[in-house]
Amino acid sequence: MLLKKVVEEIEAPIACNQVEYHVMLDQTRLLKYLAAKSIPLVSYCPLVQGRAASNETLEAIGKKHGASATQVALKWLLDQDGVAAIPKASRTESQRSNLEALNIGLDDEDRQAIANLPKDRRCVSPGFAPVWD
Ligand SMILES: NC(=O)c1ccc[n+]([C@@H]2O[C@H](COP(=O)([O-])OP(=O)(O)OC[C@H]3O[C@@H](n4cnc5c(N)ncnc54)[C@H](OP(=O)(O)O)[C@@H]3O)[C@@H](O)[C@H]2O)c1
Repeated sequence: MLLKKVVEEIEAPIACNQVEYHVMLDQTRLLKYLAAKSIPLVSYCPLVQGRAASNETLEAIGKKHGASATQVALKWLLDQDGVAAIPKASRTESQRSNLEALNIGLDDEDRQAIANLPKDRRCVSPGFAPVWD
């Protein structure tokens, strides 16, 4: 892992690690490492590049809480210790909705349903990318 080399060999101070992370991408291994080193994870593409909005599972969870699928995806990330998110939202209503996601309370049943989503949907993997993990 490239990060391991930076942290353990070069001993560079790392303020945070910005990587792709969302309801459809597993980052368990990285999160475990970052937690052990007290490095926060910043999630890019937190809304699966907008695809979270039309996911049926997220929509169903949102309906239960009077929220949107996107808000569910965002709150799922923000509920995790050491995780921040940088959703891109150009529309004012999206920006407002994303801020209001902080008010939703997801429960264990919701988290289980999200755990059952496919976790291999990486949106960004250019040719110059490192070997992930
Ligand atoms: N470090 C890196 O290598 C890296 C790689 C990729 C991305 N990033 C950064 O990560 C940030 C986010 O990534 P991203 O833009 O690829 O994906 P994203 O944040 O997962 O999704 C953005 C899309 O979601 C839509 N959206 C936002 N809020 C919404 C809402 N409340 N309801 C419905 N749709 C909503 C946006 O539409 P509207 O704009 O129309 O509202 C836009 O189409 C960006 O700032 C990007 O620069 C960093």
